[in-house]
Amino acid sequence: MLETCIGKLKLEKPGMVASGIMDETGASMVRMLESGAGAVVTKSIGLEPNAGHANPTFTEVKGGFVNAMGLPNPGIKMFKEEMNIAVPKGKIIGSIYGASADDFSKLAITMEEYGASAVELNLSCPHAKGYGMELGTDPKLVGSIVSAVKSAVKIPVWAKLTPNTHILTDIGVAVQDAGGDAVVAINTLKAMVISPEFAKPFLSNKFGGLSGPGIKSVGVRAVYDLGSVLDIPIIGVGGIADWRDAAQYIMAGASAFQIGSAIANKGPTIFDTINKDMIKFMRDFGYSSILDMVGVAHE
Ligand SMILES: Cc1cc2nc3c(=O)[nH]c(=O)nc-3n(C[C@H](O)[C@H](O)[C@H](O)COP(=O)(O)O)c2cc1C
Repeated sequence: MLETCIGKLKLEKPGMVASGIMDETGASMVRMLESGAGAVVTKSIGLEPNAGHANPTFTEVKGGFVNAMGLPNPGIKMFKEEMNIAVPKGKIIGSIYGASADDFSKLAITMEEYGASAVELNLSCPHAKGYGMELGTDPKLVGSIVSAVKSAVKIPVWAKLTPNTHILTDIGVAVQDAGGDAVVAINTLKAMVISPEFAKPFLSNKFGGLSGPGIKSVGVRAVYDLGSVLDIPIIGVGGIADWRDAAQYIMAGASAFQIGSAIANKGPTIFDTINKDMIKFMRDFGYSSILDMVGVAHE
């Protein structure tokens, strides 16, 4: 009942771990798969090891979290060990970031070699200079990166989009026109927290990204907008904490969803809880599969 498809990629369960939460080690990824996630998206991995930003990098706010981790990761070479542990246990999506189409292609080729079921291009981090959002708000650049990666690998190529733009649907169309297999929406909203006592920004990087319940309605709107113009599948993410949140994304047009911040609040059991509650809702309201619910809010 919970099976879904993102293009050719089949998932037994529609909820995935979003990039950046409980997905930096093989052991944590396995734990999430065993807790009812249909797949795990890895932490975004670059060509070289990266220490990330100096502390403080994370703080709680009303309605969620603001973080500016700065994409800390061990680099693609070292990540092989973690993939070797996780890949035999379930579907792992390799999230990658780079500064050019060439970087993304190299990383995607290696993720494919490591056994990733798909690659997710992080074109949307709001707090990494020269990466992420700075690339992901230019439809031409996005198109050239997606098309380069598509020619480099056989596995599906997903593009993760930023909500920090007024041309979201143009960017979605650029991904589709370049042959992208799916879009993932949304990454965090660019945000800032100021400490009144110190009279300065709280995060060392000044700016960060807002995640959690406060961004859910923005994410649902983004998926709905993308669903109005795209034929390729959409994966919804942003503020999902229970089955109702997940159902909103699916009905807006998402074939699957991802959860980040709520894992920090509720623990890995969130996946099992959503799976059980979703089945109950589907039985009560006469839906026989997730795919029957995709985009129904548009009708
Ligand atoms: C601590 C933290 C680290 C994150 N790291 C990444 C990352 O490496 N790559 C990425 O594409 N998104 C990253 N994200 C964004 C999430 O994948 C997700 O898009 C966003 O948090 C919205 O979902 P949520 O409200 O369920 O957390 C991160 C989010 C948080 C809170």
